[in-house]
Amino acid sequence: MSRSLVVGNWKMHASRAQVTDLLSALLAGMPRLDGVDVAVCPPYPYLQQAAGLLTGSRLGLGAQNLAVEASGAHTGEVSGPMLVDVGCRYVLVGHSERRSLYGEHNALVAQKFRAARQHGLVPILCVGEQLAEREAGTTERVIGAQLDAVLDLCGGDSLAGAVIAYEPVWAIGTGQVATPPQAQAVHRFIRERVGRGAATPTLLYGGSVKPDNAAGLFAQADVDGGLVGGASLVADQFLSICKAAFSQ
Ligand code: 13P
Repeated sequence: MSRSLVVGNWKMHASRAQVTDLLSALLAGMPRLDGVDVAVCPPYPYLQQAAGLLTGSRLGLGAQNLAVEASGAHTGEVSGPMLVDVGCRYVLVGHSERRSLYGEHNALVAQKFRAARQHGLVPILCVGEQLAEREAGTTERVIGAQLDAVLDLCGGDSLAGAVIAYEPVWAIGTGQVATPPQAQAVHRFIRERVGRGAATPTLLYGGSVKPDNAAGLFAQADVDGGLVGGASLVADQFLSICKAAFSQ
């Protein structure tokens, strides 16, 4: 199994004061969490502030998106080299909210994945099916296509050291978490699709992960940790989820 990883996706939440409060509380709780990698992904404007607070700590920093291009006339975009420059190690790629609200299709997501790799960031590739797709029995076809776009553009080796987050869209922000067997079944499918062996990526589950369900999810053979939304904004809850990953 890959090393455990828990990532907090703050989405479009926080303020300067909240960044300080939340990161201070997380740093105070972190020393007890040796053995699990933890990272947070604040909104762009707070990355530099967060990087300053996290200097010298074992809490990693990530962004929620990146541009395909490295620089140029792309108003409103933020590039991989900029994220590296302010201290990011990780970047989310193809989150379902980017896919559904901002039109990011599989080919674009694959280009963003490639850009992240080219600039030395660890991409966290998000995949997942809509409720209607699950009910229609097409979950594996949908996720297979999401993975194949990256595999076709970047090759299987590009997944070495990368992270894939399975986030069923119907479980995001709904409180309706996938059952551990449901999560495990899709994680196993992903593991088989990308191939086991040296290049095997770290596989996270995301979608209504909370302190009371994290341990059951993380106990699954192919679940290496979690990508956490709402609960990552509450220090005690996020620390509890990190502890659940640590105790696996
Ligand atoms: P919630 O944990 O709020 O369901 O969000 C999951 C998510 O989208 C993380 O990227």
